Amino acid sequence: MTSYTKRTHTCGELREIHIGQTVTVTGWVDVRRDLGGVVFIDLRDRYGKTQVVFAPQHDITAYEKAQSLRSEYVISVTGKVERRPVGTENPELPTGTIDITAMELQILNKAETPPFPIEDAIDVSEELRLKYRYLDLRRPMMQRNLLARHRFYQITRAYYDRHGFIEVETPILMKSTPEGARDFLVPSRIHRGKFYALPQSPQTYKQILMVAGYDRYFQIVKCFRDEDLRADRQPEFTQIDVEMSFVDENDVLATTEGLIAELWSGILNVDVKVPFHRLTYKEAMEKYGSDKPDTRFRLEIADCSDIVAKSSFRIFSETVAQGGVVAGFAVPGQATITRNQLDGLTDLAKSLGAGGLVYVRVTDEKVESSVDKFVSPEEVKSIASRIGAKAGDLGLLISGPWQKALSILGSLRLEMANRLNLIPKGKWNFLWVTDFPLLEYSEEEKRFVAVHHPFTSPKPEDAGLLDTDPLKARARAYDLVLNGNEIAGGSIRIYNSELQSKMFGLLGIGPEEAKAKFGFLLEAFKYGAPPHGGIAYGVDRMVMLMTGMKSIRDVMAFPKTSSGLSLMDDSPSAVDEKQLKELHIRTI
Ligand code: AMO
Repeated sequence: MTSYTKRTHTCGELREIHIGQTVTVTGWVDVRRDLGGVVFIDLRDRYGKTQVVFAPQHDITAYEKAQSLRSEYVISVTGKVERRPVGTENPELPTGTIDITAMELQILNKAETPPFPIEDAIDVSEELRLKYRYLDLRRPMMQRNLLARHRFYQITRAYYDRHGFIEVETPILMKSTPEGARDFLVPSRIHRGKFYALPQSPQTYKQILMVAGYDRYFQIVKCFRDEDLRADRQPEFTQIDVEMSFVDENDVLATTEGLIAELWSGILNVDVKVPFHRLTYKEAMEKYGSDKPDTRFRLEIADCSDIVAKSSFRIFSETVAQGGVVAGFAVPGQATITRNQLDGLTDLAKSLGAGGLVYVRVTDEKVESSVDKFVSPEEVKSIASRIGAKAGDLGLLISGPWQKALSILGSLRLEMANRLNLIPKGKWNFLWVTDFPLLEYSEEEKRFVAVHHPFTSPKPEDAGLLDTDPLKARARAYDLVLNGNEIAGGSIRIYNSELQSKMFGLLGIGPEEAKAKFGFLLEAFKYGAPPHGGIAYGVDRMVMLMTGMKSIRDVMAFPKTSSGLSLMDDSPSAVDEKQLKELHIRTI
Protein backbone atom coordinates (compact mmCIF):
# COMPACT_ATOMS: atom_id res chain seq x y z
CA MET A 1 0.00 0.00 0.00
CA THR A 2 1.27 3.46 -0.82
CA SER A 3 0.84 6.16 1.77
CA TYR A 4 -0.12 8.75 -0.85
CA THR A 5 -2.77 9.12 -3.47
CA LYS A 6 -1.59 7.67 -6.78
CA ARG A 7 -2.06 9.59 -9.99
CA THR A 8 -5.10 9.10 -12.16
CA HIS A 9 -3.57 11.14 -15.01
CA THR A 10 -0.16 12.40 -16.07
CA CYS A 11 0.68 16.11 -16.14
CA GLY A 12 0.44 16.19 -19.92
CA GLU A 13 -2.89 14.49 -20.30
CA LEU A 14 -5.77 16.64 -19.12
CA ARG A 15 -7.91 18.49 -21.69
CA GLU A 16 -11.31 20.15 -21.84
CA ILE A 17 -13.07 16.77 -22.00
CA HIS A 18 -11.88 16.13 -18.44
CA ILE A 19 -13.59 19.26 -17.07
CA GLY A 20 -15.66 18.40 -14.02
CA GLN A 21 -13.73 15.24 -13.16
CA THR A 22 -11.90 14.75 -9.89
CA VAL A 23 -8.33 13.71 -10.67
CA THR A 24 -5.00 13.15 -8.97
CA VAL A 25 -1.71 14.21 -10.54
CA THR A 26 1.81 13.68 -9.21
CA GLY A 27 5.07 15.30 -10.17
CA TRP A 28 7.56 18.07 -9.49
CA VAL A 29 6.74 21.70 -8.73
CA ASP A 30 7.92 23.65 -11.76
CA VAL A 31 7.03 27.15 -10.59
CA ARG A 32 4.93 28.58 -7.79
CA ARG A 33 3.21 31.95 -8.01
CA ASP A 34 1.69 33.32 -4.80
CA LEU A 35 -0.82 36.02 -5.72
CA GLY A 36 -2.01 36.65 -2.17
CA GLY A 37 -5.13 34.65 -1.53
CA VAL A 38 -4.41 32.18 -4.27
CA VAL A 39 -1.37 30.05 -5.08
CA PHE A 40 -0.72 28.79 -8.60
CA ILE A 41 1.72 26.06 -9.36
CA ASP A 42 2.77 24.39 -12.57
CA LEU A 43 3.18 20.70 -11.88
CA ARG A 44 5.60 18.87 -14.15
CA ASP A 45 6.35 15.30 -15.08
CA ARG A 46 7.86 13.89 -18.25
CA TYR A 47 4.53 14.09 -20.03
CA GLY A 48 4.00 17.82 -19.61
CA LYS A 49 2.83 20.52 -17.24
CA THR A 50 -0.52 21.19 -15.60
CA GLN A 51 -1.56 24.28 -13.66
CA VAL A 52 -2.91 23.68 -10.17
CA VAL A 53 -4.79 26.38 -8.22
CA PHE A 54 -4.86 26.48 -4.42
CA ALA A 55 -7.39 28.83 -2.84
CA PRO A 56 -8.70 28.95 0.76
CA GLN A 57 -12.31 28.74 -0.43
CA HIS A 58 -11.62 25.36 -2.04
CA ASP A 59 -9.57 23.78 0.72
CA ILE A 60 -7.92 25.79 3.44
CA THR A 61 -5.46 23.04 4.49
CA ALA A 62 -4.26 22.46 0.95
CA TYR A 63 -3.95 26.24 0.42
CA GLU A 64 -1.88 26.70 3.56
CA LYS A 65 0.38 23.77 2.69
CA ALA A 66 0.83 25.12 -0.83
CA GLN A 67 2.52 28.21 0.56
CA SER A 68 5.46 26.09 1.65
CA LEU A 69 5.95 24.57 -1.82
CA ARG A 70 9.26 25.24 -3.55
CA SER A 71 10.66 24.32 -6.96
CA GLU A 72 11.22 20.59 -7.42
CA TYR A 73 9.19 19.49 -4.40
CA VAL A 74 7.50 16.19 -5.24
CA ILE A 75 3.75 16.27 -4.61
CA SER A 76 0.47 14.53 -5.18
CA VAL A 77 -2.54 16.79 -5.75
CA THR A 78 -6.16 15.80 -5.94
CA GLY A 79 -8.70 18.26 -7.27
CA LYS A 80 -11.27 19.12 -9.85
CA VAL A 81 -10.50 19.88 -13.48
CA GLU A 82 -11.91 23.33 -14.37
CA ARG A 83 -11.95 25.47 -17.49
CA ARG A 84 -9.48 28.35 -17.14
CA PRO A 85 -11.19 31.75 -17.02
CA VAL A 86 -11.37 33.40 -20.46
CA GLY A 87 -8.14 35.29 -21.19
CA THR A 88 -6.01 33.19 -18.86
CA GLU A 89 -5.55 30.22 -21.18
CA ASN A 90 -1.99 29.31 -22.13
CA PRO A 91 -1.83 28.41 -25.83
CA GLU A 92 1.79 27.25 -25.38
CA LEU A 93 0.70 24.26 -23.28
CA PRO A 94 -1.45 21.35 -24.54
CA THR A 95 -3.11 21.47 -21.09
CA GLY A 96 -3.43 25.26 -21.33
CA THR A 97 -7.22 25.51 -21.39
CA ILE A 98 -7.76 23.78 -18.04
CA ASP A 99 -6.44 23.84 -14.51
CA ILE A 100 -6.99 21.80 -11.38
CA THR A 101 -8.66 23.30 -8.34
CA ALA A 102 -6.80 21.58 -5.51
CA MET A 103 -8.72 19.86 -2.71
CA GLU A 104 -5.89 17.82 -1.30
CA LEU A 105 -2.12 18.28 -1.34
CA GLN A 106 0.42 15.73 -0.23
CA ILE A 107 4.07 16.71 -0.12
CA LEU A 108 5.92 13.51 -0.96
CA ASN A 109 9.40 14.97 -0.81
CA LYS A 110 11.15 18.29 -0.39
CA ALA A 111 13.99 19.43 -2.62
CA GLU A 112 16.91 21.78 -2.24
CA THR A 113 17.01 24.76 -4.57
CA PRO A 114 18.38 23.33 -7.83
CA PRO A 115 21.65 24.86 -9.12
CA PHE A 116 19.93 25.79 -12.39
CA PRO A 117 16.32 26.14 -13.49
CA ILE A 118 14.66 23.08 -15.00
CA GLU A 119 13.90 24.56 -18.41
CA ASP A 120 15.27 24.41 -21.94
CA ALA A 121 16.76 27.87 -22.25
CA ILE A 122 19.42 27.77 -19.55
CA ASP A 123 22.76 29.46 -19.67
CA VAL A 124 24.96 27.25 -17.51
CA SER A 125 28.17 25.36 -18.07
CA GLU A 126 27.99 21.81 -19.34
CA GLU A 127 30.06 20.75 -16.30
CA LEU A 128 27.28 21.85 -13.96
CA ARG A 129 24.68 20.06 -16.09
CA LEU A 130 26.74 16.86 -16.01
CA LYS A 131 27.33 17.06 -12.25
CA TYR A 132 23.60 17.37 -11.64
CA ARG A 133 22.64 15.17 -14.57
CA TYR A 134 19.40 13.99 -12.89
CA LEU A 135 18.22 17.61 -12.87
CA ASP A 136 19.47 18.22 -16.39
CA LEU A 137 17.57 15.13 -17.56
CA ARG A 138 14.35 16.62 -16.18
CA ARG A 139 14.54 19.38 -18.80
CA PRO A 140 12.06 18.88 -21.65
CA MET A 141 14.77 18.97 -24.32
CA MET A 142 16.74 16.17 -22.72
CA GLN A 143 13.58 14.16 -22.21
CA ARG A 144 12.71 14.56 -25.90
CA ASN A 145 16.21 13.40 -26.83
CA LEU A 146 16.07 10.27 -24.69
CA LEU A 147 12.59 9.53 -25.96
CA ALA A 148 13.81 9.78 -29.56
CA ARG A 149 16.56 7.36 -28.63
CA HIS A 150 14.05 4.98 -27.12
CA ARG A 151 11.95 5.11 -30.32
CA PHE A 152 15.11 4.50 -32.30
CA TYR A 153 15.73 1.25 -30.41
CA GLN A 154 12.15 0.04 -30.74
CA ILE A 155 12.04 0.68 -34.50
CA THR A 156 15.43 -0.99 -34.95
CA ARG A 157 14.45 -4.11 -33.03
CA ALA A 158 11.14 -4.43 -34.85
CA TYR A 159 12.79 -3.90 -38.25
CA TYR A 160 15.50 -6.52 -37.85
CA ASP A 161 13.14 -8.99 -36.21
CA ARG A 162 10.77 -8.58 -39.15
CA HIS A 163 13.63 -9.27 -41.55
CA GLY A 164 14.72 -12.48 -39.83
CA PHE A 165 17.68 -11.13 -37.85
CA ILE A 166 18.27 -12.41 -34.34
CA GLU A 167 19.63 -10.38 -31.47
CA VAL A 168 22.60 -12.04 -29.79
CA GLU A 169 24.57 -10.58 -26.90
CA THR A 170 28.35 -10.86 -27.06
CA PRO A 171 30.78 -10.56 -24.14
CA ILE A 172 31.89 -7.29 -22.59
CA LEU A 173 34.92 -8.97 -21.07
CA MET A 174 36.89 -10.20 -24.05
CA LYS A 175 40.34 -10.78 -25.41
CA SER A 176 42.37 -7.73 -26.28
CA THR A 177 42.38 -7.74 -30.10
CA PRO A 178 43.78 -4.59 -31.69
CA GLU A 179 41.12 -3.01 -33.90
CA GLY A 180 42.38 0.50 -34.34
CA ALA A 181 41.87 2.36 -31.10
CA ARG A 182 43.39 1.73 -27.67
CA ASP A 183 41.70 -0.91 -25.50
CA PHE A 184 40.26 -0.41 -22.04
CA LEU A 185 41.73 -3.22 -19.98
CA VAL A 186 40.27 -5.11 -17.01
CA PRO A 187 42.74 -7.01 -14.83
CA SER A 188 41.90 -10.58 -13.93
CA ARG A 189 41.90 -11.39 -10.21
CA ILE A 190 42.00 -15.13 -10.73
CA HIS A 191 44.61 -15.13 -13.48
CA ARG A 192 47.47 -13.09 -12.18
CA GLY A 193 48.99 -10.73 -14.75
CA LYS A 194 46.27 -11.34 -17.34
CA PHE A 195 43.72 -8.91 -18.66
CA TYR A 196 40.40 -8.80 -20.37
CA ALA A 197 39.68 -5.96 -22.77
CA LEU A 198 36.36 -4.17 -23.22
CA PRO A 199 35.20 -4.59 -26.83
CA GLN A 200 36.01 -1.79 -29.28
CA SER A 201 33.19 -3.47 -31.19
CA PRO A 202 31.88 -7.05 -31.30
CA GLN A 203 33.59 -7.50 -34.69
CA THR A 204 35.26 -10.87 -34.11
CA TYR A 205 32.25 -12.30 -32.26
CA LYS A 206 29.81 -11.41 -34.99
CA GLN A 207 32.04 -13.00 -37.60
CA ILE A 208 32.25 -16.14 -35.46
CA LEU A 209 28.46 -16.12 -35.17
CA MET A 210 28.38 -16.31 -38.97
CA VAL A 211 30.69 -19.35 -38.83
CA ALA A 212 28.23 -20.74 -36.27
CA GLY A 213 25.44 -20.42 -38.80
CA TYR A 214 23.44 -17.47 -37.34
CA ASP A 215 23.27 -15.92 -40.77
CA ARG A 216 21.43 -12.71 -39.77
CA TYR A 217 22.60 -11.13 -36.53
CA PHE A 218 22.09 -7.75 -34.92
CA GLN A 219 22.78 -6.28 -31.53
CA ILE A 220 22.37 -2.91 -29.83
CA VAL A 221 25.69 -2.85 -28.10
CA LYS A 222 28.05 -0.71 -26.04
CA CYS A 223 31.54 -0.32 -27.49
CA PHE A 224 34.59 1.05 -25.68
CA ARG A 225 37.52 2.91 -27.17
CA ASP A 226 40.23 4.69 -25.25
CA GLU A 227 40.77 7.49 -27.76
CA ASP A 228 40.88 11.27 -27.71
CA LEU A 229 37.36 12.56 -27.34
CA ARG A 230 35.49 15.08 -29.46
CA ALA A 231 31.94 16.33 -29.76
CA ASP A 232 31.01 13.19 -31.71
CA ARG A 233 33.17 10.71 -29.80
CA GLN A 234 32.78 9.14 -26.38
CA PRO A 235 34.87 6.43 -24.68
CA GLU A 236 31.77 4.27 -24.49
CA PHE A 237 29.15 4.59 -27.17
CA THR A 238 26.39 2.53 -28.70
CA GLN A 239 26.38 0.73 -32.00
CA ILE A 240 23.73 -1.14 -33.85
CA ASP A 241 25.89 -3.99 -34.96
CA VAL A 242 24.81 -6.13 -37.91
CA GLU A 243 26.28 -9.10 -39.76
CA MET A 244 24.87 -11.21 -42.61
CA SER A 245 26.01 -14.36 -44.42
CA PHE A 246 25.80 -15.16 -48.14
CA VAL A 247 25.54 -11.51 -49.09
CA ASP A 248 27.36 -8.89 -51.09
CA GLU A 249 27.64 -5.12 -50.62
CA ASN A 250 24.25 -4.47 -52.19
CA ASP A 251 22.42 -6.66 -49.66
CA VAL A 252 24.00 -4.93 -46.68
CA LEU A 253 23.42 -1.47 -48.14
CA ALA A 254 19.79 -2.16 -49.06
CA THR A 255 19.01 -3.61 -45.61
CA THR A 256 20.57 -0.56 -44.01
CA GLU A 257 18.66 1.85 -46.23
CA GLY A 258 15.41 0.12 -45.26
CA LEU A 259 16.06 0.73 -41.58
CA ILE A 260 17.14 4.33 -42.11
CA ALA A 261 13.91 5.03 -44.00
CA GLU A 262 11.85 3.54 -41.15
CA LEU A 263 13.77 5.45 -38.48
CA TRP A 264 13.40 8.78 -40.24
CA SER A 265 9.71 8.31 -40.95
CA GLY A 266 8.96 6.83 -37.50
CA ILE A 267 10.81 9.46 -35.48
CA LEU A 268 10.85 12.57 -37.65
CA ASN A 269 8.01 11.91 -40.05
CA VAL A 270 10.45 12.51 -42.87
CA ASP A 271 10.40 10.52 -46.10
CA VAL A 272 13.91 9.50 -47.00
CA LYS A 273 14.53 8.61 -50.63
CA VAL A 274 16.30 5.27 -51.11
CA PRO A 275 18.58 3.98 -52.54
CA PHE A 276 21.14 6.50 -51.36
CA HIS A 277 23.62 8.04 -53.75
CA ARG A 278 26.99 6.26 -53.86
CA LEU A 279 30.40 7.86 -54.27
CA THR A 280 33.72 6.09 -54.37
CA TYR A 281 36.32 7.25 -51.87
CA LYS A 282 38.30 8.70 -54.77
CA GLU A 283 35.31 10.67 -56.06
CA ALA A 284 34.46 11.89 -52.55
CA MET A 285 38.00 13.12 -51.98
CA GLU A 286 38.38 14.72 -55.39
CA LYS A 287 35.02 16.49 -55.35
CA TYR A 288 34.59 17.34 -51.67
CA GLY A 289 38.01 16.84 -50.08
CA SER A 290 36.57 14.47 -47.52
CA ASP A 291 35.67 10.81 -47.04
CA LYS A 292 32.50 12.02 -45.33
CA PRO A 293 31.34 14.77 -47.65
CA ASP A 294 28.63 17.21 -46.75
CA THR A 295 26.64 17.49 -49.97
CA ARG A 296 24.04 19.94 -48.70
CA PHE A 297 25.97 22.70 -50.44
CA ARG A 298 28.13 22.77 -53.56
CA LEU A 299 31.54 24.52 -53.47
CA GLU A 300 32.83 21.51 -55.39
CA ILE A 301 36.52 21.00 -55.90
CA ALA A 302 38.08 20.75 -59.36
CA ASP A 303 41.49 19.39 -60.31
CA CYS A 304 43.64 21.93 -62.12
CA SER A 305 46.85 19.88 -62.19
CA ASP A 306 46.89 19.47 -65.98
CA ILE A 307 46.59 23.25 -66.48
CA VAL A 308 49.68 24.01 -64.38
CA ALA A 309 51.75 20.90 -65.11
CA LYS A 310 54.12 22.98 -67.24
CA SER A 311 53.69 26.23 -65.33
CA SER A 312 56.70 28.42 -64.73
CA PHE A 313 55.40 28.65 -61.15
CA ARG A 314 57.61 25.90 -59.77
CA ILE A 315 55.50 25.12 -56.71
CA PHE A 316 52.67 24.09 -59.03
CA SER A 317 54.65 22.30 -61.72
CA GLU A 318 56.86 20.43 -59.25
CA THR A 319 53.87 19.30 -57.20
CA VAL A 320 52.33 17.85 -60.36
CA ALA A 321 55.64 16.30 -61.44
CA GLN A 322 55.87 14.57 -58.05
CA GLY A 323 52.41 13.06 -58.46
CA GLY A 324 50.58 15.62 -56.33
CA VAL A 325 47.63 17.81 -57.22
CA VAL A 326 46.79 21.44 -57.69
CA ALA A 327 43.08 21.82 -57.07
CA GLY A 328 40.61 24.39 -55.88
CA PHE A 329 37.04 25.59 -55.69
CA ALA A 330 35.08 28.74 -56.37
CA VAL A 331 33.31 30.72 -53.68
CA PRO A 332 30.42 32.61 -55.28
CA GLY A 333 30.26 36.35 -54.73
CA GLN A 334 33.42 36.54 -52.63
CA ALA A 335 35.77 38.35 -55.02
CA THR A 336 35.60 41.33 -52.67
CA ILE A 337 36.83 39.42 -49.64
CA THR A 338 39.23 41.58 -47.62
CA ARG A 339 42.97 41.10 -47.34
CA ASN A 340 42.47 40.36 -43.65
CA GLN A 341 39.95 37.61 -44.30
CA LEU A 342 42.25 36.06 -46.90
CA ASP A 343 45.11 36.12 -44.40
CA GLY A 344 42.82 34.32 -41.94
CA LEU A 345 42.08 31.64 -44.54
CA THR A 346 45.77 31.30 -45.37
CA ASP A 347 46.55 30.83 -41.67
CA LEU A 348 43.84 28.19 -41.46
CA ALA A 349 45.24 26.36 -44.51
CA LYS A 350 48.73 26.51 -43.04
CA SER A 351 47.55 25.21 -39.69
CA LEU A 352 46.16 22.22 -41.61
CA GLY A 353 49.56 21.59 -43.17
CA ALA A 354 49.42 23.60 -46.42
CA GLY A 355 52.49 25.44 -47.63
CA GLY A 356 50.24 28.32 -48.60
CA LEU A 357 46.95 29.31 -50.14
CA VAL A 358 46.63 30.67 -53.66
CA TYR A 359 43.58 32.74 -54.54
CA VAL A 360 41.98 33.94 -57.72
CA ARG A 361 39.64 36.93 -57.92
CA VAL A 362 37.34 37.22 -60.89
CA THR A 363 35.80 40.60 -61.73
CA ASP A 364 33.97 41.85 -64.81
CA GLU A 365 37.20 43.34 -66.09
CA LYS A 366 39.83 40.80 -65.18
CA VAL A 367 40.99 37.64 -63.49
CA GLU A 368 43.78 38.17 -60.99
CA SER A 369 45.57 35.86 -58.64
CA SER A 370 47.94 35.97 -55.71
CA VAL A 371 50.61 34.39 -57.93
CA ASP A 372 50.22 36.68 -60.97
CA LYS A 373 53.96 37.28 -60.95
CA PHE A 374 54.64 33.61 -61.65
CA VAL A 375 51.59 32.16 -63.36
CA SER A 376 50.60 33.22 -66.86
CA PRO A 377 47.29 35.07 -67.37
CA GLU A 378 46.11 32.19 -69.60
CA GLU A 379 46.74 29.69 -66.84
CA VAL A 380 44.89 31.80 -64.28
CA LYS A 381 41.95 32.18 -66.67
CA SER A 382 41.85 28.43 -67.32
CA ILE A 383 41.96 27.75 -63.59
CA ALA A 384 39.08 30.18 -62.98
CA SER A 385 37.05 28.51 -65.69
CA ARG A 386 37.90 24.98 -64.48
CA ILE A 387 36.73 25.68 -60.91
CA GLY A 388 33.69 27.53 -62.23
CA ALA A 389 34.60 30.98 -60.87
CA LYS A 390 32.54 33.68 -62.61
CA ALA A 391 32.63 37.46 -62.33
CA GLY A 392 32.35 38.33 -58.65
CA ASP A 393 33.68 35.00 -57.42
CA LEU A 394 36.74 34.03 -55.46
CA GLY A 395 38.81 30.91 -56.16
CA LEU A 396 40.89 29.12 -53.53
CA LEU A 397 43.69 26.78 -54.61
CA ILE A 398 45.93 24.36 -52.76
CA SER A 399 48.81 22.32 -54.08
CA GLY A 400 50.41 19.28 -52.50
CA PRO A 401 50.26 15.51 -52.15
CA TRP A 402 46.87 14.12 -53.28
CA GLN A 403 45.32 13.28 -49.93
CA LYS A 404 46.78 16.18 -47.99
CA ALA A 405 45.91 18.89 -50.52
CA LEU A 406 42.38 17.60 -51.03
CA SER A 407 41.74 17.24 -47.28
CA ILE A 408 42.83 20.83 -46.72
CA LEU A 409 40.48 21.95 -49.49
CA GLY A 410 37.75 19.90 -47.82
CA SER A 411 38.28 21.80 -44.56
CA LEU A 412 38.34 25.17 -46.36
CA ARG A 413 35.16 24.18 -48.17
CA LEU A 414 33.39 23.52 -44.86
CA GLU A 415 34.80 26.69 -43.33
CA MET A 416 33.54 28.85 -46.22
CA ALA A 417 30.13 27.18 -46.17
CA ASN A 418 29.80 27.91 -42.46
CA ARG A 419 31.05 31.48 -42.75
CA LEU A 420 28.73 32.27 -45.62
CA ASN A 421 25.80 30.39 -44.14
CA LEU A 422 25.52 28.16 -47.19
CA ILE A 423 24.34 25.05 -45.34
CA PRO A 424 20.57 24.76 -45.65
CA LYS A 425 18.56 23.56 -42.65
CA GLY A 426 16.18 20.62 -42.78
CA LYS A 427 18.07 18.61 -45.40
CA TRP A 428 18.98 14.96 -44.89
CA ASN A 429 21.74 14.14 -47.35
CA PHE A 430 22.59 10.47 -46.98
CA LEU A 431 25.24 8.94 -49.16
CA TRP A 432 27.46 5.88 -49.29
CA VAL A 433 31.18 6.17 -49.67
CA THR A 434 32.60 2.95 -51.14
CA ASP A 435 35.88 1.55 -52.46
CA PHE A 436 38.09 2.80 -49.65
CA PRO A 437 41.74 1.87 -49.86
CA LEU A 438 42.42 -1.36 -47.97
CA LEU A 439 45.63 -0.10 -46.37
CA GLU A 440 47.42 3.10 -45.57
CA TYR A 441 50.98 3.66 -44.49
CA SER A 442 51.47 4.86 -40.94
CA GLU A 443 54.53 7.11 -40.71
CA GLU A 444 54.33 6.85 -36.95
CA GLU A 445 54.34 3.05 -36.82
CA LYS A 446 56.39 2.62 -40.01
CA ARG A 447 54.04 -0.07 -41.31
CA PHE A 448 50.77 -0.57 -43.20
CA VAL A 449 47.60 -0.21 -41.14
CA ALA A 450 44.09 -1.24 -42.15
CA VAL A 451 41.92 1.71 -43.19
CA HIS A 452 38.79 -0.07 -41.93
CA HIS A 453 39.91 -3.09 -39.93
CA PRO A 454 42.06 -6.17 -40.56
CA PHE A 455 39.04 -8.37 -41.42
CA THR A 456 37.92 -6.34 -44.41
CA SER A 457 38.17 -8.09 -47.76
CA PRO A 458 40.06 -6.56 -50.68
CA LYS A 459 38.10 -6.21 -53.91
CA PRO A 460 38.54 -9.49 -55.79
CA GLU A 461 39.99 -7.69 -58.81
CA ASP A 462 42.58 -6.01 -56.53
CA ALA A 463 43.68 -9.17 -54.68
CA GLY A 464 46.81 -9.45 -56.87
CA LEU A 465 47.88 -5.96 -55.77
CA LEU A 466 48.46 -7.28 -52.26
CA ASP A 467 51.67 -8.82 -53.59
CA THR A 468 52.70 -6.03 -55.93
CA ASP A 469 51.35 -2.66 -54.77
CA PRO A 470 49.31 -3.10 -51.56
CA LEU A 471 48.54 0.61 -51.14
CA LYS A 472 46.62 0.54 -54.44
CA ALA A 473 44.30 -2.30 -53.31
CA ARG A 474 40.75 -1.22 -52.67
CA ALA A 475 38.57 -2.63 -49.89
CA ARG A 476 35.02 -3.94 -50.03
CA ALA A 477 34.24 -1.35 -47.38
CA TYR A 478 31.48 1.24 -47.19
CA ASP A 479 30.60 4.13 -44.90
CA LEU A 480 27.23 5.76 -44.56
CA VAL A 481 27.47 9.54 -44.39
CA LEU A 482 24.76 11.95 -43.31
CA ASN A 483 25.25 15.70 -43.75
CA GLY A 484 29.02 15.34 -43.45
CA ASN A 485 28.99 12.90 -40.52
CA GLU A 486 30.08 9.28 -40.67
CA ILE A 487 27.15 7.46 -39.11
CA ALA A 488 27.89 3.85 -40.07
CA GLY A 489 30.67 1.75 -41.48
CA GLY A 490 31.13 -1.82 -42.55
CA SER A 491 32.54 -4.20 -45.09
CA ILE A 492 32.43 -7.57 -46.76
CA ARG A 493 34.87 -9.70 -44.81
CA ILE A 494 37.72 -12.00 -45.52
CA TYR A 495 36.40 -15.52 -44.83
CA ASN A 496 39.35 -17.65 -45.68
CA SER A 497 42.15 -18.19 -43.24
CA GLU A 498 44.96 -17.97 -45.81
CA LEU A 499 43.86 -14.57 -47.05
CA GLN A 500 43.32 -13.45 -43.45
CA SER A 501 46.87 -14.59 -42.55
CA LYS A 502 48.22 -12.77 -45.60
CA MET A 503 46.43 -9.60 -44.49
CA PHE A 504 47.93 -9.92 -41.01
CA GLY A 505 51.33 -10.35 -42.65
CA LEU A 506 50.88 -7.11 -44.60
CA LEU A 507 49.93 -5.35 -41.38
CA GLY A 508 53.19 -6.49 -39.86
CA ILE A 509 51.48 -9.04 -37.61
CA GLY A 510 53.64 -12.16 -37.90
CA PRO A 511 52.28 -15.74 -37.75
CA GLU A 512 53.11 -16.08 -34.04
CA GLU A 513 51.48 -12.79 -33.10
CA ALA A 514 48.48 -13.51 -35.35
CA LYS A 515 48.05 -16.85 -33.62
CA ALA A 516 48.31 -15.29 -30.18
CA LYS A 517 45.92 -12.41 -30.96
CA PHE A 518 43.49 -13.81 -33.52
CA GLY A 519 44.14 -17.56 -33.41
CA PHE A 520 40.53 -18.23 -32.40
CA LEU A 521 39.22 -16.45 -35.50
CA LEU A 522 41.68 -18.10 -37.89
CA GLU A 523 40.84 -21.45 -36.31
CA ALA A 524 37.11 -20.81 -36.70
CA PHE A 525 37.62 -19.96 -40.37
CA LYS A 526 38.94 -23.49 -40.90
CA TYR A 527 35.60 -25.03 -40.02
CA GLY A 528 33.36 -23.81 -42.78
CA ALA A 529 33.17 -20.01 -42.71
CA PRO A 530 30.43 -18.67 -45.00
CA PRO A 531 31.00 -15.53 -47.08
CA HIS A 532 29.75 -12.70 -44.91
CA GLY A 533 29.69 -8.98 -44.36
CA GLY A 534 28.09 -6.39 -42.14
CA ILE A 535 27.92 -2.90 -40.81
CA ALA A 536 27.70 -0.98 -37.55
CA TYR A 537 25.80 2.28 -37.00
CA GLY A 538 26.76 4.91 -34.44
CA VAL A 539 23.49 5.33 -32.54
CA ASP A 540 24.66 8.37 -30.60
CA ARG A 541 25.66 10.26 -33.73
CA MET A 542 22.44 9.39 -35.50
CA VAL A 543 20.22 10.47 -32.61
CA MET A 544 22.32 13.63 -32.24
CA LEU A 545 21.66 14.55 -35.86
CA MET A 546 17.99 13.60 -35.65
CA THR A 547 17.41 15.80 -32.61
CA GLY A 548 19.50 18.69 -33.96
CA MET A 549 22.01 18.52 -31.12
CA LYS A 550 25.63 19.62 -31.52
CA SER A 551 27.15 17.00 -29.23
CA ILE A 552 26.50 13.30 -28.70
CA ARG A 553 26.62 14.03 -24.97
CA ASP A 554 23.17 15.59 -25.33
CA VAL A 555 21.61 12.33 -26.42
CA MET A 556 23.30 10.11 -23.83
CA ALA A 557 21.86 9.81 -20.34
CA PHE A 558 25.19 9.75 -18.51
CA PRO A 559 28.07 10.79 -20.78
CA LYS A 560 31.68 11.57 -19.90
CA THR A 561 33.30 14.97 -20.32
CA SER A 562 35.79 15.53 -23.13
CA SER A 563 38.52 14.48 -20.71
CA GLY A 564 36.74 11.22 -19.93
CA LEU A 565 35.34 12.17 -16.52
CA SER A 566 31.93 11.35 -15.16
CA LEU A 567 31.25 14.43 -13.06
CA MET A 568 28.15 13.06 -11.37
CA ASP A 569 29.62 9.95 -9.80
CA ASP A 570 33.19 11.21 -9.96
CA SER A 571 34.78 8.45 -12.00
CA PRO A 572 37.42 7.37 -12.69
CA SER A 573 38.29 7.32 -9.00
CA ALA A 574 40.98 5.89 -6.73
CA VAL A 575 40.33 2.42 -5.32
CA ASP A 576 41.37 0.71 -2.09
CA GLU A 577 44.84 -0.74 -1.78
CA LYS A 578 43.10 -4.03 -0.96
CA GLN A 579 41.30 -4.09 -4.31
CA LEU A 580 44.55 -3.42 -6.14
CA LYS A 581 46.33 -6.15 -4.24
CA GLU A 582 43.65 -8.67 -5.15
CA LEU A 583 44.20 -7.73 -8.78
CA HIS A 584 47.97 -7.99 -8.44
CA ILE A 585 48.34 -4.37 -9.44
CA ARG A 586 50.62 -1.63 -8.16
CA THR A 587 50.16 1.98 -9.21
CA ILE A 588 53.24 4.03 -9.92
P1 AMO B 1 33.48 1.72 -36.95
O1 AMO B 1 34.73 1.77 -36.14
O2 AMO B 1 33.45 2.47 -38.24
O3 AMO B 1 33.13 0.21 -37.36
O4 AMO B 1 32.27 2.18 -36.05
C1 AMO B 1 30.94 2.23 -36.54
C2 AMO B 1 30.27 3.54 -36.19
O5 AMO B 1 30.33 3.78 -34.79
C3 AMO B 1 30.39 5.18 -34.55
N1 AMO B 1 31.55 5.47 -33.66
C4 AMO B 1 31.51 6.24 -32.55
N2 AMO B 1 30.51 6.94 -31.99
C5 AMO B 1 30.77 7.61 -30.85
N3 AMO B 1 31.96 7.62 -30.22
C6 AMO B 1 33.02 6.93 -30.75
N4 AMO B 1 34.20 6.93 -30.09
C7 AMO B 1 32.82 6.21 -31.97
N5 AMO B 1 33.59 5.44 -32.76
C8 AMO B 1 32.82 5.00 -33.77
C9 AMO B 1 30.52 5.87 -35.88
C10 AMO B 1 30.97 4.75 -36.80
O6 AMO B 1 30.52 4.95 -38.11
N6 AMO B 1 33.18 -3.26 -36.30
C11 AMO B 1 33.09 -2.19 -37.27
C12 AMO B 1 31.82 -2.24 -38.08
C13 AMO B 1 31.78 -3.32 -39.13
O7 AMO B 1 32.78 -3.44 -39.89
O8 AMO B 1 30.74 -4.00 -39.23
C14 AMO B 1 33.16 -0.87 -36.52
O9 AMO B 1 33.14 -0.79 -35.31
O10 AMO B 1 29.25 6.36 -36.28
